[in-house]
Amino acid sequence: MTKATLVNQPEKYWDRLFAPGGHCGIVTTVDTEGRVNAASYATCVRIVHNPVQIAFTTNPAGHTAQNLLATGSFVVNLPSFERDILEKVRVVGLPFDRGVNELEKAGLTALPSTIVKPPRIAECLRHFECEVVWTKEWIKRLMVVGNVVAASTYSDCVDAKGYLVWERVKPVAFCGAPYVNMFAAAHETMAVGMPYDGPEVADADRSVRSYFEDM
Ligand SMILES: Cc1cc2nc3c(=O)[nH]c(=O)nc-3n(C[C@H](O)[C@H](O)[C@H](O)COP(=O)(O)O)c2cc1C
Repeated sequence: MTKATLVNQPEKYWDRLFAPGGHCGIVTTVDTEGRVNAASYATCVRIVHNPVQIAFTTNPAGHTAQNLLATGSFVVNLPSFERDILEKVRVVGLPFDRGVNELEKAGLTALPSTIVKPPRIAECLRHFECEVVWTKEWIKRLMVVGNVVAASTYSDCVDAKGYLVWERVKPVAFCGAPYVNMFAAAHETMAVGMPYDGPEVADADRSVRSYFEDM
C-alpha cells in the first residue's frame, strides 16, 4: 500500500472537503396569511446549549427567509437516514412558487406545533419549534438563529433521560450542494477514554456536570 501524503486542496474544493456541514433538516414556516412553506436545509446546527438555539443559513430572497422575518418563528424537523424520507427531503428542496405547500407536494404530513404557528412534520422523528432570536445578512446569505421553545420526538427515539436511541433516530447530514443527492449517516457512536490525567480533566468534568445537572 502506498503511503498517503498531505495534499493542499484548491479553493474550489474546500466546500466539498467540509462535508457533512451540519444536520439535515426540513424547516417549516408560515407566511402572514398562514400558508405553510417547507424547505430543506443542510446547515442546521445547534449553536448554544442553554438556552438551546439552532442556526441555519438561507437565501434572503427565499420563502423561508421572508416568512420567518415576517412571522418570527420556524420549526426544524429532523429526518432519519431512511431512503423514503430522504427522497422527500429532496422534493421539499425544489424551487416551488410562493404559496405552494411543499409538504403536500412531497406527501409529508403536517402536525400542528405546540407553541409556534408553522407545523411539525409527522414523518420526521425530531421537531424543534423555534422563535427567531436574530438574523444577519451577508454575502447573499441570511444566518438565522432561533431559540427552541418546544421540542418533540417519538417515545422510542429517546431513553428515560432524553438521550437518543441512535439506531432508531439515525441522524443524517447532507453532504452539500456539490454532492447533489448524497446523504451521510451519523448513527455509529463510540464512547472514548481520556488518555491524559492532569487536573484539567477533573475541572472539565465538574463544569460539565454542573452545567448538565442530570448527566
Ligand atoms: C438536502 C438539501 C439541503 C439543502 N440545504 C440548504 C441550505 O443549507 N441552505 C440553503 O439556502 N438552501 C438549501 N437547500 C436548498 C433549498 O431547500 C431550496 O433552495 C428551497 O427551494 C428553498 O425554499 P424556500 O424558497 O421555500 O425557502 C437544500 C436543498 C436540499 C435538497
